[in-house]
Amino acid sequence: MKLPFAELYKIKMVETIKQSTQEQREQWLAEAYNNVFNLRSEYVFIDLLTDSGTGAMSDKQWSQMMIGDESYAGATSYLKMKETITQLFGFNDFLPTHQGRAAENVLFSVLVKEGDIIPGNSHFDTTKGHIEFRKAKAVDCTIDEAFDSTLYHPFKGNIDLSKLSKVFEESTQEKIPMVIVTVTNNTSGGQPVSMQNLREVSALTHRYESKVVIDSARFAENAYFIKKREEGYAKKSIKEIVSEMYSYADAMTMSSKKDAIVNMGGFIGFRDRELYEKASVYNIMFEGFVTYGGMSGRDMNALCQGLDEATEFDYLDTRIRQVEYLADKLLAHGVPLLQPTGGHAIFINAAAFFPEIPKEEYIAQTLVVELYLEGGIRAVEVGTLLADRDPITRENRYPKLELVRLAIPRRVYTNSHMDYIAAAVCNVYDRRKEITRGLRVLKEAPIMRHFTVVLERL
Ligand code: F0G
Repeated sequence: MKLPFAELYKIKMVETIKQSTQEQREQWLAEAYNNVFNLRSEYVFIDLLTDSGTGAMSDKQWSQMMIGDESYAGATSYLKMKETITQLFGFNDFLPTHQGRAAENVLFSVLVKEGDIIPGNSHFDTTKGHIEFRKAKAVDCTIDEAFDSTLYHPFKGNIDLSKLSKVFEESTQEKIPMVIVTVTNNTSGGQPVSMQNLREVSALTHRYESKVVIDSARFAENAYFIKKREEGYAKKSIKEIVSEMYSYADAMTMSSKKDAIVNMGGFIGFRDRELYEKASVYNIMFEGFVTYGGMSGRDMNALCQGLDEATEFDYLDTRIRQVEYLADKLLAHGVPLLQPTGGHAIFINAAAFFPEIPKEEYIAQTLVVELYLEGGIRAVEVGTLLADRDPITRENRYPKLELVRLAIPRRVYTNSHMDYIAAAVCNVYDRRKEITRGLRVLKEAPIMRHFTVVLERL
């Protein structure tokens, strides 16, 4: 018999989770106004809300926590982080921040001003939020293939070079301070960006004397896909691939809560000393002194160890194969998924799942509600709610894809949990014809409404 694939780790510590009844879930969801961000986590059986800050640290990371240096200035933990970032990404300067959006806040305080245009590949919502908050505009230049949910393309996160050139040609140079490349591209399905695309985007951007900033939350998963799918990289190590990826960038923002496998943290990496110095002023103001910036020494230590582990092939192979394992089960049952499967999550095409529900009734959020009721599974909407309203017209922005994301935390759930999730999704799929109405918004915030929105089932 061929030996099956098995996780390349064993478990040293466990956390109890509880099942619930359908009646309990009905009640809890009503109390949460049909917004799963309002649910108490104890009321969730399998939490797929996010892969951010929800990973399990390794024994080595925990041991690093014990030897963190909590000095306000010049801590050894800071110096260790500096060395790790230089080795891995090739940036000599960095600033620690408390998480990814804080890195965006600090960097954009220097780079973005009113009226600017920031092209990129489907900017993440906090990234877009920080751009729009400064009265600048985020322009999506993702390749068209990314919006065809069943089409196979190995690098659906890629930027369309002709769309990007057009943005540069139609604007004055000083209005485009940077191009943001998000690896992997979360918003369009956890899809990777190829090395070739990074190289070409970098050449084009530099021709216009602008900067390439990599939004790096899932950089290691992106490197894994380059190794697996791009010609010429099969024999390279993940660390070598990462090093080349960042040779094309001028700066990076990082949410360490994903591919650095820590529960909190972030940083900005800089090639340009002058930019680092300008950003330092904002870092001190918003985050903390430049050698800790919102992080404890112990957390910086765990982060360094996490970066090292996350850029090992075996870890990534276990991780991404678990996501594929779940996807294969769903596909075998006919559930419409965004293809190919992303690195950190499975994206269900909610519009294809519930073809009868009108788009005004928040189709993807309706599926989120049904998954919770079915199995106590908490997923997240990546659809009309997240896309928010147009800042000028205040009309709903209907995205090209109405998706539900099942984000898989790193090293947390076993394949039995994947079997359970698959069964719950398939059960909802089997009764999809009975679900023809969605939700109505009763109350929402002016920006990033999905976190606090109050909804009513129709
Ligand atoms: N960039 C990307 C691509 C992200 O996915 C996130 C967060 C951020 C930036 C912001 O980082 O949360 O540390 O402030 N994504 C989480 C998610 C929240 O669920 O996908 P943060």
